[in-house]
Amino acid sequence: MKTELLTAAETARAAEIIRNGGLVAIPTETVYGLGANALDAAAVKRIFEVKGRPQDNPLIIHVSSADELDAWCRDIPAAARALAAEFWPGPLTMILKRKSAVPDTVTAGLDTVAVRCPDHPAALETIRLAGVPVAAPSANLSGKPSTTTAQHCIHDLTGKVDAILDGGPCRVGVESTIVDMTVRPPRILRPGGITLEQLERTLGRVRTETSPVKSGETPKAPGMKYRHYSPKAEVTIIKSDIKQKIYDYVNSMPDEGTAVLCFDGESGSFPGKLCAEYGAEGDAFSMAERLFACLRELDREDITRIYARCPSGEGVGRAVCNRLEKASGGRIICL
Ligand code: TXA
Ligand code: MG
Repeated sequence: MKTELLTAAETARAAEIIRNGGLVAIPTETVYGLGANALDAAAVKRIFEVKGRPQDNPLIIHVSSADELDAWCRDIPAAARALAAEFWPGPLTMILKRKSAVPDTVTAGLDTVAVRCPDHPAALETIRLAGVPVAAPSANLSGKPSTTTAQHCIHDLTGKVDAILDGGPCRVGVESTIVDMTVRPPRILRPGGITLEQLERTLGRVRTETSPVKSGETPKAPGMKYRHYSPKAEVTIIKSDIKQKIYDYVNSMPDEGTAVLCFDGESGSFPGKLCAEYGAEGDAFSMAERLFACLRELDREDITRIYARCPSGEGVGRAVCNRLEKASGGRIICL
């Protein structure tokens, strides 16, 4: 299949392809999405095939305004409308009771649907012009780091999708926060660009449920049970209160095959190792923005293990830690 490369101005073409049942990688402020008409079950099925995504993992539908909520959702609590008013367009996905107009292929048969209004002009314009909600998972092959530039999408999806809309690098860099609004108190299923602290200001008490799923347990966000965001190389999170211990440990590994995802200014402490600096130690925003690009950059053919520095788990740092924990499959070394 030929993949059209569209500029951010060519949203009318992107919308036309989506209306006609095609697949388009679209930019959002979080990560790129692999979009199709959410009301077209055949097009949605193709998303799963292209990504190699398990069928039991439902998709987020993207709308261009909160006014569209009532068309696809029912029993919408006032708190959900308050969140939409406060944070949309933006990196927040709400789980709500669905109406039957949303196909089962989108929701994996659940009684709920995930809805988000992305804060990116090209995405909003594409959805508006398409005139339909756009179902879109992150535009990466299943299990791989999410895509945060058009180049990443070209790498993963050329020949597999109808078009890639280049909206530049994603500003937030990690996926949206998912909050389940069908339970009380509302529950965070995935930390992301909108922080727990921000949600608490609007909602009062909020529960978090992002701990790894034990076998036999059904995860609330089905996607969270899979190993995720993961390069081919083995990722290990490395922690210590004493930085020198981290440097000594990593430097005891052979230079060949070892890479380090580290904080700004730390490369010099890992002489001979392939390093990517992804942000200053206290700057979780920059780490979120650069995380997936850096993981991709380090995932060279000759690299077999990546040691990762992890920020403290507050604010957006919580989302960065969560993605690194998934990427590492829980491999964490505390020195
Ligand atoms: O920022 C984002 O959210 C990006 C951009 C493209 O919008 N999208 C994204 O989609 O991250 P995806 O498919 O990679 O992750 C969606 C997550 C999955 O873990 C899925 O299981 C969960 O949302 N999800 C979808 N529908 C759900 C539902 N009805 N109930 C619970 N979880 C749901
Ligand atoms: Mg994803």
